[in-house]
Amino acid sequence: MSTVHVFEHPLIQHKLSILRDQTTGVKEFRELVGETAMLMCFEATRDLPLEAVEVETPVAKAQCKRLAGKKLAIVPILRAGLGMVDGMVAMIPSAKVGHIGLYRDPETLEPVKYYFKMPPDISEREVIIVDPMLATGGSAIAAVDFLKEVGVKHIRCMHIIAAPEGVQAMQKAHPDVDIYVAALDERLNDHGYIVPGLGDAGDRIFGTK
Ligand code: PRP
Ligand code: URA
Repeated sequence: MSTVHVFEHPLIQHKLSILRDQTTGVKEFRELVGETAMLMCFEATRDLPLEAVEVETPVAKAQCKRLAGKKLAIVPILRAGLGMVDGMVAMIPSAKVGHIGLYRDPETLEPVKYYFKMPPDISEREVIIVDPMLATGGSAIAAVDFLKEVGVKHIRCMHIIAAPEGVQAMQKAHPDVDIYVAALDERLNDHGYIVPGLGDAGDRIFGTK
């Protein structure tokens, strides 16, 4: 069974409280999604392997460490996942970025795919899926399905807020995928929205409501 990591870091929790606030405007919301993603990226990459390297400083040789092992790719689920990309790439500048376009059918809540574009070497990369919300889990589970279909073997997913229903669904569908969140909320409502959540992440990032 995969692990769910809930980041209790004070800076993450402080930013999350402003994201949840319905009076927070589009500009601040968008900035905070990016900043929260950056802080979460820092926490979620603690286990990346390092290798020893020797570096010549202006003074002497220094024994240092650099990232080793697989290269990374960040894969946002459109639209709302786009808001997290800049923060992630600021932390991991060498990461490539793939895009998966999905929207939830408002009647069935089932994910509908409309875009899929990955770096050519995606199957050799460790992938971090980003999307602010894990609600029913349908979108993120479909994203993992599509990535596994093209040969990706190591996938983790990062969400600012998750519902217990989405976490359970993801763990059942993909027990190998670890989940990183800033908050695990109470439940979903009848419309598939996370309670208390933060509302519609895409609309709040892009000002479409
Ligand atoms: C939202 C959110 C997730 C999805 C989560 O996207 O950004 O992708 O819902 O719900 P689920 O876990 O039940 O699948 P939405 O469908 O509203 O599309 P958008 O990002 O284009 O606004
Ligand atoms: N998508 C959102 O943007 N918010 C929710 O609460 C659920 C799905």
